[in-house]
Amino acid sequence: MKVLVTGGLGFIGSHTVVELQNKGFEVVIIDDCSNSDENVLYGIKAITGKKPLFEKLDLKEKHKVEDFFQRYQDVAGVIHFAASKAVGESVEKPLLYYENNIGTLVYILKELCRKNKASFIFSSSCTVYGQADKMPITEDAPVKVAESPYGNTKQMGEEIIADTCKVTPSLNAIALRYFNPMGAHPSGEIGELPIGVPQNLVPFITQTGIGLRDQLSVFGDDYPTPDGTCIRDYIYVVDLAKAHVVALERLMNGKNESNFEVFNVGTGTGSSVLEAIKSFEKVSGRKLNYKIVDRRPGDITSAYADTTKANKVLGWKAEYTLEEAMNYAWIWEQKIRD
Ligand code: UD1
Repeated sequence: MKVLVTGGLGFIGSHTVVELQNKGFEVVIIDDCSNSDENVLYGIKAITGKKPLFEKLDLKEKHKVEDFFQRYQDVAGVIHFAASKAVGESVEKPLLYYENNIGTLVYILKELCRKNKASFIFSSSCTVYGQADKMPITEDAPVKVAESPYGNTKQMGEEIIADTCKVTPSLNAIALRYFNPMGAHPSGEIGELPIGVPQNLVPFITQTGIGLRDQLSVFGDDYPTPDGTCIRDYIYVVDLAKAHVVALERLMNGKNESNFEVFNVGTGTGSSVLEAIKSFEKVSGRKLNYKIVDRRPGDITSAYADTTKANKVLGWKAEYTLEEAMNYAWIWEQKIRD
């Protein structure tokens, strides 16, 4: 079975390619390398023994997308990661985000609609829930007004897929709403490669731990949480990657109950920023230099998943703890700074 993974050289994409290849899928990656490195292919090969097919291609170029699907008529499924993901940048450059994240989605769906049968997995985000009224968050929690164009592309992306599936019975799709992905492959061969100053907590922690950054700013300790810092659901990237494979198999085996389904992908456990720091200090044996500063505008207090649906329906469950994931993030950080 040939599977197209767009953005397959990225953080979550590369880990998913590994899990797909481990399961015997033949993978072809499309990536424009705007936020990734071609050398990731060697990391994937080191782990799985196989270098996936790769096409350096910008999905915004519609004719190239058409040409790709002409040449790869045997692609039976697509896992679509390729997208821009910096919240702040999306506020500055909304059209770039709508073009990158929505335009490319439309081009791919158009190609899949031509097929007799196609399976499609979409990278969505818990950001669609905003500050949910109830914890843990179930899939039927209301989608809130998006805080940023980035968040809006995830909401609109889901709507575009739902509308398309409604009129296209041959198209079967699943949107996976990720909570906070983190960590790196246990082999140390692939991991997160943030360009510039990381915006996300875990790479900022490990970069501070290794001395690349002086200090971590903890954005606020006056939230209504037990220790005053925000709570998130940190999901290990390998667990998250495996969720994509089971979701794809569900569609390919015709096990889905409707042709568009949505699942939360998290651990079900909320951890505070201070707990994440403590877990780093434990696995690294180092004290982390951090300082409490003002809240970051737009941050929500708390978000963690109710994973019952993914557990029962997909038969998938996160296996790794925050501490284990942090340990792999730290091993990776030390390796890339060697
Ligand atoms: C962010 C995005 C979200 C996206 C997700 C992908 C925002 C507002 N939201 O979520 O849309 O889907 O990344 O992973 O950017 N923190 C610090 N100091 C730091 C960095 C973070 O204290 O230097 C805190 C934050 O306040 C937050 C937690 O760590 O409480 C996690 O932050 P982050 O990793 O940026 O993820 P989210 O904000 O949850």
